[in-house]
Amino acid sequence: MSDKAILEINGQKHEFPTIMGSENEVAIDISALRAVTGGVTTLDPGFKNTGSCVSEITFLDGEKGILRYRGYSIEELAEKADFLEVAYLLIFGELPTKEALAKFHTDLKSESIVDDDIRKIIDAFPKSAHPMGVLSSLTSALTAFNPTSVDVDSPEDMYNSVVRILGKFPVLVAWAMRKKQGLPLDYGDNSLGYVENVLKMMFKQPNEEYVQNEILVNALNKLLILHADHEQNCSTSTVRIVGSSHAGLFASISAGISALWGPLHGGANQAVLEMLEAIKNDGGDTKKYMAKAKDKSDPFRLMGFGHRVYKNFDPRAKIIKVTADEVLNDLGVKDPILDIAKGLEQEALTDAYFIDRKLYPNVDFYSGIIYRAMGIPVEMFTVMFALGRLPGWIGQWREMRLRKEPIGRPRQIYIGSTHRPFKSVAK
Ligand code: CMC
Repeated sequence: MSDKAILEINGQKHEFPTIMGSENEVAIDISALRAVTGGVTTLDPGFKNTGSCVSEITFLDGEKGILRYRGYSIEELAEKADFLEVAYLLIFGELPTKEALAKFHTDLKSESIVDDDIRKIIDAFPKSAHPMGVLSSLTSALTAFNPTSVDVDSPEDMYNSVVRILGKFPVLVAWAMRKKQGLPLDYGDNSLGYVENVLKMMFKQPNEEYVQNEILVNALNKLLILHADHEQNCSTSTVRIVGSSHAGLFASISAGISALWGPLHGGANQAVLEMLEAIKNDGGDTKKYMAKAKDKSDPFRLMGFGHRVYKNFDPRAKIIKVTADEVLNDLGVKDPILDIAKGLEQEALTDAYFIDRKLYPNVDFYSGIIYRAMGIPVEMFTVMFALGRLPGWIGQWREMRLRKEPIGRPRQIYIGSTHRPFKSVAK
């Protein structure tokens, strides 16, 4: 493999260095392109083929269906790890020792109170507000109550900012749900594990003792791990680019939450459930909806199918499908929607349209079915995705700041009017 790429433009040859990643991915470094060609740039809408950074955090091979965090396979992490261990791994680069994990958890707990004035902000939202909008606003509002800026050259400052947001975020998640349900806003219980505490904060009724359900704890632990990072997706790229202007961590994460909300990204988990419900209420005719998905004059898409990078099975979807079966079985829930989902998947996997375009179920196809069985309202599904993705966003933000990456600022190719004289309104 040559370590140079040659580009011929306007009869002139220019050489560019290539870079090879640790999994043998090759990229052409075109950072000098404009300078050496006198202004030529590249065009790649949607960044389908643009590497925006080098990263040591997550590797994925979309053709082979491989996903690894810091070298560890997603299958092994989902099976054996605790969400907090995975968070530590993603953010700091190594699995924690027992002592480091205990300290990390203690530090998070010491940051698990949000300023009581945050309640006033929540109270100002109508009950109809979508919890993703509430979560994004509250995350941004945290800046007002924690105004110190992060000195990225101080490991202590960096660590404190990381534990501060990881400690407070679950409270905001629970409050976003409780506000909608008209339940009192309360804090969790610091004697519990991270995931157990999240569930208690979400589900505790004011007049009943909360009893932990191990099935729910294990299911949520696994789902959070599966969502924890996915390299340079839309929300993560947003977090990195907002942070690249040296905006603070809370502001960067808040922007990431907004990016995640869209139905083509994390919002797909809500959209899948709504789609499956609609199919059920329409008589369960999956063929009709398959036809709609293939009809180019119909805007309908099969939500939970397709992925920008995976052109093979999304490894997370494989794990989630098995987990959905287990959780529904363990909880004794019979959900007709699971059968509709399996039917749609079966049809898609044997349909030429989906085969030709390499469209497979993605992480969002089955996750909503598990959330629903756990009693989580549909509008909270993407919030749960955000809770899982938080360590990934933090790790990527931290990496970007520690590498002292320049401000993100893409180019464009202008196709508007060329210079023209101003016409006064009177004319
Ligand atoms: N249903 C029907 N057709 C589809 C679908 C779908 N879900 N996804 C892609 N296609 C078709 C698309 O119409 C196009 O066809 P053609 O080549 O004939 O024009 C072809 O497949 C390529 O699609 P694309 O939109 O160019 O691909 P993309 O890489 O820009 O988009 C995607 C990827 C995930 C946005 C898209 O597959 C999609 O909209 N899927 C449904 C939404 C979804 O499930 N999103 C969650 C993604 S995974 C979790 C996450 O990112 O948070």
